[in-house]
Amino acid sequence: MPRVDDFRLKLGSQEYVPIMQGGMGVDISTAELALAVCAEGGIGHISDAMGPYVSDKLFGTRFQSAKQKQFRQHANSLDKSEVQWDYERTYQGTFNHVKAAMEAKRGPGAVFVNTMEKLTMGNPQETLRARLVAQLDAGIDGITLSAGLHKGSLALIADQPRFHDVKIGIIVSSARALKIFLRSGDKFDRKPDYVVVEGPLAGGHLGFGLDWEKYDLKTIVREVMDFLKQEQLDIPVIPAGGVFTGSDAVAFLEQGAGAVQVATRFTIAQECGLPKLVKQIYLRSNEEDIVVNTSSPTGYPMRMLKNSPSLRSNVKPNCEALGYILDRQGKCAYHEAWDQAPIGPDGKKQAVESKMCICYHFMKYDCYTCGHNVYRLKDTTVRLPGGDYHLPSAAHIFNDYRYSIDHELAQPVVPEVERTGSNSAENGSTAHSKGERQAAPHSSLLIGA
Ligand SMILES: Cc1cc2nc3c(=O)[nH]c(=O)nc-3n(C[C@H](O)[C@H](O)[C@H](O)COP(=O)(O)O)c2cc1C
Repeated sequence: MPRVDDFRLKLGSQEYVPIMQGGMGVDISTAELALAVCAEGGIGHISDAMGPYVSDKLFGTRFQSAKQKQFRQHANSLDKSEVQWDYERTYQGTFNHVKAAMEAKRGPGAVFVNTMEKLTMGNPQETLRARLVAQLDAGIDGITLSAGLHKGSLALIADQPRFHDVKIGIIVSSARALKIFLRSGDKFDRKPDYVVVEGPLAGGHLGFGLDWEKYDLKTIVREVMDFLKQEQLDIPVIPAGGVFTGSDAVAFLEQGAGAVQVATRFTIAQECGLPKLVKQIYLRSNEEDIVVNTSSPTGYPMRMLKNSPSLRSNVKPNCEALGYILDRQGKCAYHEAWDQAPIGPDGKKQAVESKMCICYHFMKYDCYTCGHNVYRLKDTTVRLPGGDYHLPSAAHIFNDYRYSIDHELAQPVVPEVERTGSNSAENGSTAHSKGERQAAPHSSLLIGA
């Protein structure tokens, strides 16, 4: 019976285990997570979302407080048109994050970065250019363009020395979107090295409307493959969204996919950036707890747990420090929603229902975005005596995808200290239920470990 490990993803002269861990912003797909996947021979993504904030958090820079100080006179106004980004700081924040990850990189895999067009930061082109150039300068292996059609993104870096050597891919949800992107590369003789086809069951923002249930990944993958064949293009197609077991992945690989991209399974990994408490919330979730709504001010629907605190918040827009999705006019859809929220009997603004302040709530990790299969995470690990679940290592999850057959989910081996009652430890070795599966070594590549 075939397993994921029987296949390989070829990108240029490199071969990888065909599992991509998808980008999860903001710093949910940490460098530690991407590095653990890379160490096992797959491709891990870090996220470029809110690079200056992430640099401040990880490396002690002060980009955000400097910006907040500079624009504090606008804090009580909803006119944020004067709140401008310093693109040198944007470059530096992104560079610091990517450079540290690339310096820590070990093993046969690769580390890519997920780069979202929707992070417009008051000047969509300049911010994207600064971020992309920083990623190239910092030595990233590959750039996955996401959250947008990226019609002008290749033009922003066509003059860069690594333009033809770095791997570039795009996330699309239709053959039509891919067609538009391909056309944009014609001028520069640059085709994508891979195409991630993200279906309606994915986490994060969706490339579908609220009628997402009408679509299915298999059909879209087939349409994209047919289109590429028609164009005589040999570009690996990488399905994403709802691939929960190794057998789900094998089904796509047998149909000619180059790899699969997965994310939700990794949200409970020890190396994942979500706080431990949030990982337990994901693990306890049920199918009826999930919602796809339009609370994201980006304009894209997003899947999340209904108990996300971001859906009951009245936080004041703080674009002086944040402002990652301000448009050219200094506007964000949250501004208007916040402005119109009624004042309650206590004299306080009531919860803003239609939109959330996405920068603030992603920074706080309290928008619980997830793939549709989040409620199945509890089947992938062990419940501890105190009621919490054991958090597996990224290597365990990766190797479960890699070696599983028959939709089996290998349970991680829980260390004695957790099994006997103290469930605070996040540490532990992992093994697979079948002798043929290799024990997945705990990654020793954690930054700072
Ligand atoms: C918590 C979470 C955050 C995500 N954030 C992003 C993101 O910042 N950018 C992006 O392009 N995709 C994002 N995604 C989508 C994933 O990269 C991936 O393509 C998708 O979730 C795969 O489906 P699966 O979660 O069912 O495995 C996110 C997914 C999750 C679960």
